[in-house]
Amino acid sequence: MNNHVAPRAAGKQVFITGAAGGLGAAMARMFARHGAKVFLTDIDADAVTAVADEINRELSDTVAWAATQDVRDEAAWIERLDQAAKAMGGLSVLVNNAGIGSLGSVEQIELKEWRRVMSINVESILLGCKHALPYLREAQPASIVNISSLAAFKVDPDYAAYNTSKAAVAMLTKSVAMDCTRQKIDVRCNSVHPAFVRTGIVAPFYDALGEEEATRKLTRGIPMRRLGEPDDVAYAVLYLASDESRYVTAAELVVDGGACAI
Ligand SMILES: NC(=O)c1ccc[n+]([C@@H]2O[C@H](COP(=O)([O-])OP(=O)(O)OC[C@H]3O[C@@H](n4cnc5c(N)ncnc54)[C@H](O)[C@@H]3O)[C@@H](O)[C@H]2O)c1
Repeated sequence: MNNHVAPRAAGKQVFITGAAGGLGAAMARMFARHGAKVFLTDIDADAVTAVADEINRELSDTVAWAATQDVRDEAAWIERLDQAAKAMGGLSVLVNNAGIGSLGSVEQIELKEWRRVMSINVESILLGCKHALPYLREAQPASIVNISSLAAFKVDPDYAAYNTSKAAVAMLTKSVAMDCTRQKIDVRCNSVHPAFVRTGIVAPFYDALGEEEATRKLTRGIPMRRLGEPDDVAYAVLYLASDESRYVTAAELVVDGGACAI
């Protein structure tokens, strides 16, 4: 009997945005432990470098690289993708993970803030997909994973821009996926929709309400009655990035403790 099981992401060359902490850093560790090379970017240069260094130390090998990138900047996308492909010997997976939260109802939110949310949460994904596709086409089978949210399906009127941006990510994902099938290229594109996970993005909520009340509020619409863990999301991304999901494209994968069912 052959007991050897190949690492799930062996040979994959993965570009992850927003990887300085939270979900992005968890994905980076997950991919590296499963045999991939990872190129990590974030607007926070020191923190993203620390994540890459920690991975290389843990695996006693150079499998992770880090660079600073503002995902709103088109020229930076072009530069970073080129740098990543040179470092890893190609690019077969793009994870568009960077994103921000924003509080405000339709009547409260300023246009400037609305545009900031759209540029970081939506336009960045357009730029990433557009400029990564030439590399992914060369690396078939390839995969794009866009991090959306439960907020794409469930409305909280206090987060008008965030909800709208995450719904846009789901449809942009399908547009990319169908463009690839039309071109008959094996580049899949799917979105992941997590419920709440304790990361930087929910920190303001904890600061405002305190530990117990924040957790109570965030878990009350979750049938499994707990927050998600970063690795709950990272496992979903690993599946969609790997060849295990080779027949899955234009899908919305919810990772939400059952929240969408109620
Ligand atoms: N944590 C949750 O509850 C949750 C739930 C659903 C979806 N999400 C989504 O998951 C993704 C990751 O968020 P997280 O929970 O890890 O939060 P986080 O705040 O810990 O991570 C977001 C990262 O994006 C980076 N970033 C922000 N603006 C950037 C920019 N302009 N350019 C480059 N990087 C930038 C930040 O520096 C940060 O490291 C986001 O898209 C978020 O909307 C999170």
